[in-house]
Amino acid sequence: CLELLYILQGNHCKLLKLLICLFSSEKFEVLGPTDSIVAVAGDDIILPCYLKPNISAEDMTVDWLNLDFLDSRVFRYQNHRIIREDQILFYSGRTSLYEEELWRGNTSLKLTRVQGTDEGRYKCLIQSKSWYDDFTVQVLVKAVGSKPVVSIEGHREGGMGLLCESEGWHPEPELVWLDSKGVHLSAGLPETHRDLDGFYTVKRHVIVQETDTNRFTCRVQQSRINEKMETEIHLPILVPNPVVDV
Ligand SMILES: *[C@@H]1O[C@H](CO)[C@@H](O)[C@H](O)[C@H]1NC(C)=O
Ligand SMILES: *[C@@H]1O[C@H](CO)[C@@H](O)[C@H](O)[C@H]1NC(C)=O
Repeated sequence: CLELLYILQGNHCKLLKLLICLFSSEKFEVLGPTDSIVAVAGDDIILPCYLKPNISAEDMTVDWLNLDFLDSRVFRYQNHRIIREDQILFYSGRTSLYEEELWRGNTSLKLTRVQGTDEGRYKCLIQSKSWYDDFTVQVLVKAVGSKPVVSIEGHREGGMGLLCESEGWHPEPELVWLDSKGVHLSAGLPETHRDLDGFYTVKRHVIVQETDTNRFTCRVQQSRINEKMETEIHLPILVPNPVVDV
C-alpha cells in the first residue's frame, strides 16, 4: 500500500491513502502540538510527536525533516537504528529520539543547543509497512543579542561619526539611533550579517551634530520577541573650536 502511494504522490495522496489502506490492519495518526514551539538559543528542546493509538514505533521508520531545506533530513530511525547518512550537517550530534519511549508510540525529537538556523517547520513522518502519517510543528528561535557597543569614529562632515554594533540576535533586529529626547536620528543604512549558526549581527553609522546634552542612544530591538538593548553615549565636547588661520 505504501509503495503505491509513493508512485502516486501529489493531491491524490490523501484520497488514495483512504482507499488503498482502508482495510489495513495497522492504522495510526501522528500528532503533536498545534502551537509553535518558542526555543531560546542555547537551550535543549523537545519537539513533541506521538502515535495515536499509542502503539509501538520500534519497528517503524521515524523521520524528522526540516521543511525549509531542500535536502531536509534532521533525523532518521529505521530498522531499529539511527541512520546518520544524508543528515543536514548542522544537526549532526544535536538530535536524538527518546528510544526508551518508542514502545509507547512517543517519537518526540530532542534537539540540543538551539541555534538560529534551527528555526523552521519540522515534519515528523512515521511509516510502518502498511501505513504512514505525519505532523508538522513550527519552531521559533529567540536570541537576545549583546549590549550594543558604540565607538567614536572621529569628526565627519561637521559633526561626529559614531558606530553602533550588536551581535547574537534572532530573529533579525532593528537598530535605531536616538537623541536625548528619543527622536530618531537619520543614520546610515543598517548593515546586517548572519553567521553560520544563523545569528544576526547588526551595525549602523551615524553622524551627530552638537545638541544641548550631547547624549545619544543606540537601540537594538526585536518586536517579535519583545526585546531591546540599548547603550547611551555622552560626548562632552563634540565639535572642536574652529581652527583660525593666521
Ligand atoms: C496508551 O493509552 C491508553 C489509553 O489512552 C493508556 O491507558 C495507556 O496507559 C497508554 N499506554 C502507554 C504505554 O503509555
Ligand atoms: C515523550 O517523551 C518525552 C521525553 O521523556 C516526554 O517529555 C514527553 O512528555 C513524552 N510525550 C508523550 C506524548 O508521552
